[in-house]
Amino acid sequence: MKALDSAVVVGVIGAGAMGAGIAQVAAQAGHLVFLYDNREGAAQAAIDGIQRQLTRLVEKGKFTAEEVAAIVARLQPAAALSDFAGCGLVLEAIVENLDVKRGLLEQLESICSADCILATNTSSLSVTSLGAGRQRPQRIVGMHFFNPAPVMKLVEVVSGLETDNAVADCVFATAKAWGKQPVSARSTPGFIVNRVARPFYAESLRLLQEQAADCATLDAVMRDGGGFRMGAFELTDMIGHDVNYAVTHSVFDGYYGDFRFQPSLMQKELVDAGLLGRKSGRGFYSYSENAVKPEPQSVSVSGDPVPGCVALGDSGVLSPLLSRLADAGVMLSSESSSDDGVLRIGSATVALTDGRMACQRAGEEGLHNLVLVDLALDYGKATRLAVSRAHNTSDEALQQVADCFARADIRISEISDVPGLVVMRTVAMLANEGADTVLHGVASAADVDTAMRAGVNYPRGPLQWADQLGLPAVLTTLEHLQQASGEDRYRPSLLLRRLALQGGSFHA
Ligand code: NAI
Repeated sequence: MKALDSAVVVGVIGAGAMGAGIAQVAAQAGHLVFLYDNREGAAQAAIDGIQRQLTRLVEKGKFTAEEVAAIVARLQPAAALSDFAGCGLVLEAIVENLDVKRGLLEQLESICSADCILATNTSSLSVTSLGAGRQRPQRIVGMHFFNPAPVMKLVEVVSGLETDNAVADCVFATAKAWGKQPVSARSTPGFIVNRVARPFYAESLRLLQEQAADCATLDAVMRDGGGFRMGAFELTDMIGHDVNYAVTHSVFDGYYGDFRFQPSLMQKELVDAGLLGRKSGRGFYSYSENAVKPEPQSVSVSGDPVPGCVALGDSGVLSPLLSRLADAGVMLSSESSSDDGVLRIGSATVALTDGRMACQRAGEEGLHNLVLVDLALDYGKATRLAVSRAHNTSDEALQQVADCFARADIRISEISDVPGLVVMRTVAMLANEGADTVLHGVASAADVDTAMRAGVNYPRGPLQWADQLGLPAVLTTLEHLQQASGEDRYRPSLLLRRLALQGGSFHA
């Protein structure tokens, strides 16, 4: 399907953060853009703001002054909705309210031609509901940009029940022509990103509630071990707890109270207290003038001689960690054993978490001085790993692990004996949600991964990550989490289970 020709006039309604950004993107792609807002002067103010931003980019050499003048000349404030009569695509980015958006779409149908595409930037409303009762619901489609629209690559192209495939395909091709990374989704609560991302916040909030560690430690583990740009506490402080909590709530309600999406009481407390994050000066962290950001907890290094490391059986996912320890001068040896993935460091037995608590695994497998290690994005580069230990693991054993890892510049943060640790638990749940998104025909596996990388900057698509870990390992982790917590929330996706049993993968 072909993209809209740049000669097609585009209309944008709502000149707030999103509308202004989308208008800029369309004008940069060569379209004449009419921008309308029902607040007097808002459209012109938005265009002036775009001009100021682009002018700054001229100073940085990203545009020439002539290019900026041409882009700005293509942005026209509209005095009334009737100005949209000649548009081929009208995109609304007004207030997130179903009735108000439906009223607007009804008005637009009477103004625009029959072949005009009516797109909505809604992040939480059903595109199917927005099309209901309209004359031409087949021409109504979601075109969901991410904030800030000129910077973020992702556009979710969302089809309602009656959206014509040709319309969705045209919007997809147009987003691509505008330099974006489009993905296709069926209209369901949260679409792709706002659904699959829920466990990123939820698992950290749970870990805090379970008193696994403090916010700074959990954030640091997600960043320095998991490779995420921010941990959940610093990120939700930035997003605003009112906004993040409302999204979680709307997805939870949208799925009829499925406990997978249950909002956090701890976050609700912050909202109730007005501690909304950066914008109110305090959330999980304080942003007052004299605030000092708390340091993550780390096991300090003893200075004693570093013990050697013995790899039992096949090291699997931990292999890059062993290479790194060897490069750092740790004495490495191996023993053939059926205990794949298990290391011996001094008196400690070290293993990658499989979703069981350390006390459970130590008992079941008879492992002495067990220290469990968290998942890392890349063990060759991680600078911090979460660990947990069984109740009967000695301080000395933990110290030996800390000293050994410190030799390779890896700090360890001990957290309490929770199942699945931090990164593993989060990634398993992200992949599980991605799997259900694919299972339910909402999006393809490739689009789920693209959406999470381009929309929320994940360092790796969750389904690709699960493929790399091995689906049986992810399935086992979830089963153990479900067993340990007794909660339906951790039930493995049918698709994940099926692929694991078949020896398949999400990206065959
Ligand atoms: P905003 O509050 O910054 O801007 C909304 C603009 O729409 C305001 O300028 C307002 O005056 C105008 N407006 C409201 N009702 C109108 C009407 N009936 N007719 C004409 N103009 C009207 O909101 P924001 O953040 O730009 O969000 C707009 C839409 O984009 C919402 O549907 C939101 O869910 C969605 N969205 C927001 C994202 C974000 O991060 N802020 C990300 C992706 C989607």
